[in-house]
Amino acid sequence: MSKVLVSDPIDQAGIDILSQVAQVDVKTNLSPEELIGIIPDYDALMIRSGTRVTQEIIEAGKQLKIIGRAGVGVDNVDVPAATRQGIVVVNSPEGNTIAAAEHALAMMLSLSRHIPDANQSVKNHQWDRKSFIGAEVYKKTLGVVGLGKIGSHVATVARAMGMKLLAYDPFISIERAEQLGCRIVELDVLLREADYITLHMPKTAETTHLINAEALAKMKPTARVINCARGGIVDEQALYEALKAGQIAGAALDVFESEPIGESPLLSLGKEMILTPHLGASTAEAQVNVAIDVAEQIRDVLLGLPARSA
Ligand code: NAD
Ligand code: MLT
Repeated sequence: MSKVLVSDPIDQAGIDILSQVAQVDVKTNLSPEELIGIIPDYDALMIRSGTRVTQEIIEAGKQLKIIGRAGVGVDNVDVPAATRQGIVVVNSPEGNTIAAAEHALAMMLSLSRHIPDANQSVKNHQWDRKSFIGAEVYKKTLGVVGLGKIGSHVATVARAMGMKLLAYDPFISIERAEQLGCRIVELDVLLREADYITLHMPKTAETTHLINAEALAKMKPTARVINCARGGIVDEQALYEALKAGQIAGAALDVFESEPIGESPLLSLGKEMILTPHLGASTAEAQVNVAIDVAEQIRDVLLGLPARSA
């Protein structure tokens, strides 16, 4: 019987599918050395964002046929190394779209109304209504950077809330943007005009530190930045300095240059900074969706059927 290793927490629905065709071992929080030690026994590896599947792990996985990422990005898998070894890498491109979009919208509203700090203040037995005067999003301009699956859903909901929409995405047509009620503009225009800037593109050489000191300096002093895409698209040191200097009004990050975030000056900031621990895809619905999607693909490959590669 085939053996599947699940090295990050995934929904039981996925494990049930895999169990129909394989022995499934769930072993989370493994160190890279532990993973290298046990991976030779397995035909398939199923992960979320917690496991970094390096070249060494892939080379140790002599029997591996498939690596499945229960999520969108496969940036924690050395895909070229897997390809060299004939291992298929699959993902779930759509299973958590709504969850991630709703998280970005929740971040935008939380930033506007200081929900996390106001909540903490009440729990600290205070009744402080003056410190938490917020801002409305109605009639404000939202700049969506990356108008793909998640960015499009964010735009659709934001439009329904009465926001004006700008978008920057070099790979999207003007017609598609117009369907979503977005005006396509150059990044510079978006940075200068938007009240809220939400990032929804992959992390690539072009997007790494796209939001750096220079970009932050172009934003309005009332601007708020939201990153629920990938850590490293925002230069965290530059963001800290911009917030500390009051150069922009706020930021909300779900993803970080290094995860867990560890020691960071961002932790010392006040209500202008909201931090969540990579929760974009963490809804019950999304976790069921991605687990089923990826487990079915792994099952098919173990049964000798063709794979849909990431
Ligand atoms: P997608 O592929 O549907 O959309 C990405 C869009 O970014 C595309 O339209 C593409 O044209 C655009 N793009 C590429 N390069 C760009 C650039 N240089 N500038 C502007 N736009 C650019 O992807 P998606 O499913 O919408 O995911 C978006 C991001 O969200 C990804 O980085 C994904 O990994 C991340 N994500 C995070 C979470 C989370 O838990 N926080 C959950 C799901 C997805
Ligand atoms: C993804 O790429 O789908 C996300 O970052 C979500 C996750 O793995 O938790």
